[in-house]
Amino acid sequence: MDNRSTNRRVAQLAAHLQPQIRRDPTAAHKTGFTVAVLGAAGGIGQPLSLLLKRCPLVADLRLYDVVPLAAGVAADVSHVNSRADTRGFHGPSQLPLALEGCDLVVIPAGVPRKPGMTRDDLFNINAGIVRDLVAACAKTCPNAVLNVISNPVNSTVPIAAEVLKDAGVYDPRRLMGVTHLDVMRARTFVSQSKGGDPNAIDVPVVGGHAGVTILPLLSQTRPFPKGGFTAEEARALTHRIQNGGTEVVEAKAGAGSATLSMAAAAAEFAHSCLRGLNGERNVLEHAFVESHLVPGCSFFASRVRLGRAGVEKVLGLGKLSDSEAAGLKALTPELSASIRKGSDFARARCALTSSSTAGAGSRLAAAPGLGA
Ligand SMILES: NC(=O)c1ccc[n+]([C@@H]2O[C@H](COP(=O)([O-])OP(=O)(O)OC[C@H]3O[C@@H](n4cnc5c(N)ncnc54)[C@H](O)[C@@H]3O)[C@@H](O)[C@H]2O)c1
Repeated sequence: MDNRSTNRRVAQLAAHLQPQIRRDPTAAHKTGFTVAVLGAAGGIGQPLSLLLKRCPLVADLRLYDVVPLAAGVAADVSHVNSRADTRGFHGPSQLPLALEGCDLVVIPAGVPRKPGMTRDDLFNINAGIVRDLVAACAKTCPNAVLNVISNPVNSTVPIAAEVLKDAGVYDPRRLMGVTHLDVMRARTFVSQSKGGDPNAIDVPVVGGHAGVTILPLLSQTRPFPKGGFTAEEARALTHRIQNGGTEVVEAKAGAGSATLSMAAAAAEFAHSCLRGLNGERNVLEHAFVESHLVPGCSFFASRVRLGRAGVEKVLGLGKLSDSEAAGLKALTPELSASIRKGSDFARARCALTSSSTAGAGSRLAAAPGLGA
């Protein structure tokens, strides 16, 4: 081997050991992004990591979990022949390494539902997990787009917003709760009931991500099915879309909630976020974001346009049928209470840490047990 080829080989090996980190999410014509999955060893995290490894816009994939299995998942996924460098990280001390330079952070960390539980029953455990992980993001990758999957999304997203505000890095365009599984379910169930290709059907699903707060707008289905929906069909479809998660929880009989369909939804949504960051125009998805659409709900899921900065525009709800308008009125108090519960939880913690760590810089990041 001559000197030139030896040098080239050494450079190749060094590049593999220390993959280039692409830091500027607003750069035009990017060819690859750095993406982290927090909770990568879990039921959603594993298939999501696999799907992201295949995503052509991912150049550097970081798989983080509190359990050491993260390293094994990363080793496994890394053998899939795509160009995304894949590395595993585990435990709070490695979290900053996993987050360094990230353009997008997807968060499925936390506990899932068991039969008989509502999403809100998960609050006590997952609220703290999301708060601590977002505090670490605020410190290490404040410009990253965050996709929050951990339930109850209606509360965990407001928690994330308060944590980011407290760290002084909140940009509502970059914080999204992932409700795309509700949209996928609506497409699937409407196509099963009325025919048509589920890939070509568009059904807006707005509101929140729990029970009656999930509001499918069947009257805006495109293409609109021949003969429309009878009142009974609309009622049954709405009920099934609202309870799709419970259908899976009961079918899995205590072994978890939706993981595979959720991973597919999260990967599709993450891909759309990256397409937007990459400068593609008119990328439309539904997400639970800061919103002024419905009085009393400072966060709301609706169609949004994604772009270089994250959510470029929150689109309107369109014309609702009478039953959808009644559904919107009925969901508002529950959604509003869940948002308040999340904000109050995070604010109480922020107030507590700011009084105990006054003058210590970023208050939440400096608080004990925050995993950063
Ligand atoms: N948004 C949605 O539509 C939707 C759909 C289904 C499930 N979920 C939610 O997603 C979450 C995960 O579900 P799952 O089935 O993958 O659960 P799981 O228990 O199989 O996996 C969760 C993973 O998170 C990890 N984890 C726990 N604490 C962590 C921390 N502090 N940092 C990093 N990782 C941590 C665990 O070790 C585990 O690997 C649950 O809250 C569930 O309710 C959301």
